[in-house]
Amino acid sequence: MSMKAPASNSYVLLAPLGVLVLVVVVFLLPSLNGSQRVGSDGLGGVMCARRTAGADGYTAAVAVAVVDPPPPREEPELSLLVGVLTMPKRYERRDIVRLAYALQPPAVRARVDVRFVFCRVSDPVDAQLVALEAMRHGDIVVLNCTENMNDGKTYAYLSSIPRLFASAPYDYVMKTDDDTYLRVARLVDELRHKPRDDVYLGYGYAMGGQPMPFMHGMGYVVSWDVATWVSTAEEILARNDTEGPEDLMVGKWLNLAGRGRNRYDLKPRMYDLSWDMDNFRPDTVAVHMLKDNRRWAATFIYFNVTAGIDPSKLHHSP
Ligand SMILES: *[C@@H]1O[C@H](CO)[C@@H](O)[C@H](O)[C@H]1NC(C)=O
Ligand SMILES: *[C@@H]1O[C@H](CO)[C@@H](O)[C@H](O)[C@H]1NC(C)=O
Ligand SMILES: *[C@@H]1O[C@H](CO)[C@@H](O)[C@H](O)[C@H]1NC(C)=O
Repeated sequence: MSMKAPASNSYVLLAPLGVLVLVVVVFLLPSLNGSQRVGSDGLGGVMCARRTAGADGYTAAVAVAVVDPPPPREEPELSLLVGVLTMPKRYERRDIVRLAYALQPPAVRARVDVRFVFCRVSDPVDAQLVALEAMRHGDIVVLNCTENMNDGKTYAYLSSIPRLFASAPYDYVMKTDDDTYLRVARLVDELRHKPRDDVYLGYGYAMGGQPMPFMHGMGYVVSWDVATWVSTAEEILARNDTEGPEDLMVGKWLNLAGRGRNRYDLKPRMYDLSWDMDNFRPDTVAVHMLKDNRRWAATFIYFNVTAGIDPSKLHHSP
């Protein structure tokens, strides 16, 4: 999973090239003395190939093939954009959440990008500090909206994403909050064998005799086609359906339009942490209500996040 490279190339678009180069590399490797570096680091790879292959007429073909560096990893099976809706001033929480994502085991064969999402930064001091974060971490998305959780921010998010990432679309878009600990690899494993279209997945909130008319705001996933539909659906705006409890409203848009019919309820693997913090479960996909540092600390302890810290005289580890 990548916390950096915000403008990363689309593996989807590069896939044919990646396959081509992979084929070339696989077949030429014996003549390259098993150099694993070919194609893995662009021009460096080309020069390496020249040195190791010798002047046998093969080299030029290799060089041509690898000038554009292919993704060195396996082609991802799916891609997911995780948008953590937060507010500019929540620096400390953002730092904790950023670390919580960065220190997770990577989701295999998946392209997962985590972005912190908020509305326009009106305060000039915050604008500077947020600019620093954006420069350092490259994981900030500022939407053209005014800050207010239940006043259209989720609409702004879901409707902007298809346009903002049009050149490198994802299979799925997630909305989550800065008081949710999401275990990305577990979520990706859930998504891996699901359809890529018409999906609406999360903590199903039973209501009015229906099992999951909407997904709880702690975190839900829609497929790219659903987000694209939201971005073009005039009816949502015409009904003023951008305001109100955001999770309920998303369910309403989709229900009225017959969208998101591939629905998946991840209860009980998504849940609210209880007051006594005694309901963690090992198969957690997401735990919500981490509203203070004490609750984040309990979460890191339960999931052994800091258990692997190297023994060192420089930090008296917990
Ligand atoms: C941002 O939103 C405002 C109000 O809806 C609009 O007037 C303005 O053109 C938008 N700016 C951009 C860059 O889209
Ligand atoms: C939507 O909200 C605006 C402004 O509050 C109001 O003027 C309009 O009548 C509303 N439309 C509907 C369909 O409720
Ligand atoms: C944390 O580590 C302990 C000890 O190795 C293990 O028993 C437990 O299952 C781990 N917890 C999780 C959530 O993986």
